[in-house]
Amino acid sequence: MRAEARTRVIRAVVALAVLGALVASLYVWRPSGLYLWLKAVHVIAVISWMAGMLYLPRLFVYHCAAEPGSPQSETFKVMERRLLTVIINPAMTVTWALGLWLAYDGGHYTSGWMLAKFLLALALSAMHGMFSGWVRDFASDRNRRSERFYRLINEIPALLMVGIVILVIVKPF
Ligand code: HEM
Repeated sequence: MRAEARTRVIRAVVALAVLGALVASLYVWRPSGLYLWLKAVHVIAVISWMAGMLYLPRLFVYHCAAEPGSPQSETFKVMERRLLTVIINPAMTVTWALGLWLAYDGGHYTSGWMLAKFLLALALSAMHGMFSGWVRDFASDRNRRSERFYRLINEIPALLMVGIVILVIVKPF
């Protein structure tokens, strides 16, 4: 494994360990209003995750127009990598960790809306995985997909978000 990749893995493991310790200590300590505080952090993480999931495909669209090896293309590579590793990946981890805890603590895991939300969140996470692969493709100048493809893909995270928010707020079933 390259030194840079190893540093990234170590950082991710440390961040997860700190988050786990924080959540565990809050769970043992149980200050009043814990559920609402963790729900607030969940929504903050959701906003950060979505911001990245909506912006990254826009970067892919502009990146398609840049000649491989050009200064613009190299700048897009840095922007895409940083957006993914600094914002999107940690935000998704926190969203999942706290979302699952809220589902358990609030007893929501048996509700129909929760199951549907879970499936849409899984679909969003699968998109996230595909975006990571495309960041790697651009990084090694191996992108073969068109600008139009990325423009269309850009709409999917937004549609998933609309469905998820309606499910969790309206709780229609
Ligand atoms: C990744 C898996 C996720 C799980 C397991 C999860 C689970 C939950 C649970 C159990 C609640 C508390 C509901 C309540 O107290 O009524 C909640 C709140 C919320 N979640 Fe998620 N969530 C996830 C991802 C997301 C995503 C991707 C979004 C948006 C795109 C989102 C948006 C929200 C919002 C806006 C609330 C606050 C709702 C309210 O208080 O009325 N969640 N989530």
